Amino acid sequence: MTGVTISLFSFLLVIAAAICFSRCHANSSVICIESEREALLKFKNDLMDPSNRLSSWVEGGDCCKWNGVTCHNLTGHVHQLHLAAPLDDYVAALVEPEAYWRLRLGGTINPSLLHLKHLTFLDLSYNNFSNIQIPDFFGSLGNLTYLNLSLAEFKGAIPHTLGNLSKLRYLDLQCLFFPWMLGEARDMEAKSLAWVSGLSSLEYLDLTGVDLHKTTDWLQVTFNLSSLLELHLHGCNLQGPSPYYLGNKSFLEVVDLSYNLLNSSIPNSLYNLNHLQSLHLSKNMLEGRLPTSLKDLCNLKELDLSDNKIEGDISEIVHSLSSCSLDCLETLNMENNQLSGHLTDQLGQFKSLVHLSLAGNRISGPIPLSIGELSSLKVFDVSENQLNGTFPPSLGQLGNLETLNIGQNLLEGVVSETYFSNLTRLKELKASRNMLRFQPNSSWVPPFQCKTIELAQWYLGPKFPRWLKFQKNLSDVDISHAGISDVIPAWFWNLSTQFGYVNLSSNQISGMLPYLNVSAVADLSSNRLTGPLPRVLPTLEALVLSNNSFSGPLLEFVCNSSKRTQMEILRIDTNLLFGEIPDCWNQWQALRNLNLGNNKLTGKFPPSLGHTNLGMLNLRNNSMFGELPSALQNCTRLVILDLSENHFSGSVPAWMGDKLSRLEVLRLRSNNLDGHIPDKICALPYLKNLDLAHNNISGAIPKCFSNLSKMATKDQGYGYLEGSYLEFGEPFYFSASLVLKGREDEYGSTLGFVASIDLSVNSLTGEIPKELGTLIGLISLNLSWNLLTGNIPNDIGNMELMESLDLSMNQLYGGIPSSFSDLNFLNHFNVSYNNLTGQIPTSTQLQSFENSSYMANHLCGPPVSKNCITKGVTNEGGKGEGSNDRSKVNGLYVSIMVGFVMGFWGVVAPLFFIKSWRHSYYQKLDHVGRKLQVFWATMGR
Ligand SMILES: *[C@@H]1O[C@H](CO)[C@@H](O)[C@H](O)[C@H]1NC(C)=O
Ligand SMILES: *[C@@H]1O[C@H](CO)[C@@H](O)[C@H](O)[C@H]1NC(C)=O
Ligand SMILES: *[C@@H]1O[C@H](CO)[C@@H](O)[C@H](O)[C@H]1NC(C)=O
Ligand SMILES: *[C@@H]1O[C@H](CO)[C@@H](O)[C@H](O)[C@H]1NC(C)=O
Ligand SMILES: *[C@@H]1O[C@H](CO)[C@@H](O)[C@H](O)[C@H]1NC(C)=O
Repeated sequence: MTGVTISLFSFLLVIAAAICFSRCHANSSVICIESEREALLKFKNDLMDPSNRLSSWVEGGDCCKWNGVTCHNLTGHVHQLHLAAPLDDYVAALVEPEAYWRLRLGGTINPSLLHLKHLTFLDLSYNNFSNIQIPDFFGSLGNLTYLNLSLAEFKGAIPHTLGNLSKLRYLDLQCLFFPWMLGEARDMEAKSLAWVSGLSSLEYLDLTGVDLHKTTDWLQVTFNLSSLLELHLHGCNLQGPSPYYLGNKSFLEVVDLSYNLLNSSIPNSLYNLNHLQSLHLSKNMLEGRLPTSLKDLCNLKELDLSDNKIEGDISEIVHSLSSCSLDCLETLNMENNQLSGHLTDQLGQFKSLVHLSLAGNRISGPIPLSIGELSSLKVFDVSENQLNGTFPPSLGQLGNLETLNIGQNLLEGVVSETYFSNLTRLKELKASRNMLRFQPNSSWVPPFQCKTIELAQWYLGPKFPRWLKFQKNLSDVDISHAGISDVIPAWFWNLSTQFGYVNLSSNQISGMLPYLNVSAVADLSSNRLTGPLPRVLPTLEALVLSNNSFSGPLLEFVCNSSKRTQMEILRIDTNLLFGEIPDCWNQWQALRNLNLGNNKLTGKFPPSLGHTNLGMLNLRNNSMFGELPSALQNCTRLVILDLSENHFSGSVPAWMGDKLSRLEVLRLRSNNLDGHIPDKICALPYLKNLDLAHNNISGAIPKCFSNLSKMATKDQGYGYLEGSYLEFGEPFYFSASLVLKGREDEYGSTLGFVASIDLSVNSLTGEIPKELGTLIGLISLNLSWNLLTGNIPNDIGNMELMESLDLSMNQLYGGIPSSFSDLNFLNHFNVSYNNLTGQIPTSTQLQSFENSSYMANHLCGPPVSKNCITKGVTNEGGKGEGSNDRSKVNGLYVSIMVGFVMGFWGVVAPLFFIKSWRHSYYQKLDHVGRKLQVFWATMGR
């Protein structure tokens, strides 16, 4: 995550660092050489220069005084061309993009440059040469020592002729790269780096973003170039490397191979680089342990191995590092790997350490006291590990600390305000999800001014934390689940002119909420807030007010925005809203997830809601009426549609099968629907949950249900639901209630695992189609309280994952198929009130249910008390044993899976929830990056 932000910001910095153009012309008195002036004018002639940056380049002038030209102060030869586009004003770029982009030179590059025999320095960075390749003849500018073509949009292959530039010391061919472009095609590529070995003076090489996935020689070439000091191959789609011995010719000091596809163990050859000061290997797929040769890297200042799959004991790694890099190591980033073990006191010896991140590993034990000795430390991040013990008071000695992140660990106990007394520079305090308690003296004034405070699940209450009042720079705050039982004080909303992210959910906060000055994400769900819905900023992207007591009509909230709202997620379910859902959703084009369930809303479905791009729509448990709205036909991106528990009438529309082709969850339960189930429903390729229970639907169960392919497989894989998680990164906003085993529960990310059909309490007639037996992914099937007749198809016994099967209250006859003894995971089973006859098949499951599961039939054998007078008992018993054996195998698999499904929601989900918030917030930064990219792509070309 941080990788994304870091690289985004470093990208901005790169822009900001663009070379100043105006300072770079010579102030000497020499007059330029005629032939060189002519060459420059030809060069100008082929350029496009929309903002007239080269206006001083005129016939007959002294070219040594031209913008961007530098001549030698004695000979008058043109020495340097500083023609980078001055794109250092990022703000201007946003305010006046047209003018900004016009500053870029474009067109083609005239070979007349070859007449500048003495040219040593050529900088064309940030310009727009998007129609051409890097010209071959650049390889003949044999006196060049500096060549910068970065972000100048050249396309295609890098010419091998560049390898002739034997005097070149600095080469930057960087092209645009964002983290999400990993593995994708790029503007520029090279099939081999053999030409680089000709650059015998090269000290600095940057090929960031160039596609090098076809090169096999990159490692060999670069590590054998004895002049090279800095190598930047960030985001180059590098594969391999096959680790082979490279000798120790290299003097490399900086190696950046981050954001590639390297998937071996860490290549041993890296450890021959004993001049190395900075090594970046983050965001690859490196695995295995760190070799002990790490200890030879005695000059190492920066080691970034984050986002890989590196294993090993952290204390051993610290030990091997400490043998010689004690005094120089400033940055150690190993977050998001698979490290284990404890933090030891040895950590305290790294006196120069400024940035330490070990987040997202499996490190356990306490935070050692020696942490207090890291007096230079600015960033300490050990979040998402299994650290236990108390909040270490020695953290309070870190007077330079700016970021403290100990979130998602197992720390417990009471935190005293004195621990913070020296943390005067703290900007980010992130410690959510520990079992800590913090109730400072009511007069406590924190010594820090934080931008971010995340203390979710600490105990901070019962009063609203008063010390927040002194935080003047607060942007992001999460004090959810913190035992606060109070009103939100008026000063809180004045702390910031605009909060980015506010999470006060799951407290007992009461009172009204007139307005929310939050620009991105606000969650105040599960509190006791009352009154009308708050006014919000048009930039707000997610608003979650579920489970409060907001009341009143929606009109003002929905219709009052004259501007387009950017809201993507709006959840106001389980409140006291009443009146009609207003019909002015045209301004809500960004909306993907709308939940207004469990309110007192009435009226017909507003047609304009059909003009949004909803992926999830939940209006359940209101009092809406009318036919199922044809406006919904336009919501072709719907994945979850829940209109249950209303008064909708008419029949289930056939267009649902045609138009809503992404639908995975369709709930129309408890309405006044009649008519037949249309065959078209069977055309929904992703449907996993179909609930039409408690209506007046008649006719037969369509045989074509067997076409519902997502229910017909045990391995349901990813559908749009999961796809949307990936796309939007906010899994937990997608959820639906399902009635399984007679109990209604909310399912979030597990939704994809629980395939079910509920058609109970209708007037369905005819036989149960045997085709239903092909739906082997079903976990729950409820056909009770209908008018079904005939035999129970034997194929129902094929549904081996079935946990809940209810066929009661019909007119079924014949026996319970012997195949039912294969249903080993049944824990809810009911066939009562039919006309079933014969013996109940034997299996561990079927005999474990109460008598009432079988009552009002003519069945015999256990568990019912009536004995059977039959002969086939031995036969029956033999089959039972065999199938039990088989089920053990399945049983293991299924119970793991079911255990996962059920356990997940209860135990792991809250954990995930927190993460998803965080994720969505970082995702926002990613959004910014993408917008920038789009902006770059559309404005710049
Ligand atoms: C010419 O430039 C060099 C450095 O590039 C400088 O040392 C020297 O003083 C300059 N000479 C004059 C006459 O400006
Ligand atoms: C490099 O510069 C020297 C003079 O300093 C000149 O004689 C030579 O031709 C130049 N080389 C190229 C390839 O332009
Ligand atoms: C921390 O966890 C370990 C087990 O991982 C346990 O042995 C130890 O007692 C715990 N320490 C504290 C202070 O809870
Ligand atoms: C804060 O710094 C002072 C002076 O360096 C030191 O005496 C004190 O113990 C520190 N407080 C904490 C909580 O570490
Ligand atoms: C669907 O959208 C189109 C264009 O936005 C509109 O013309 C059409 O009337 C809509 N259909 C329904 C049923 O709302």
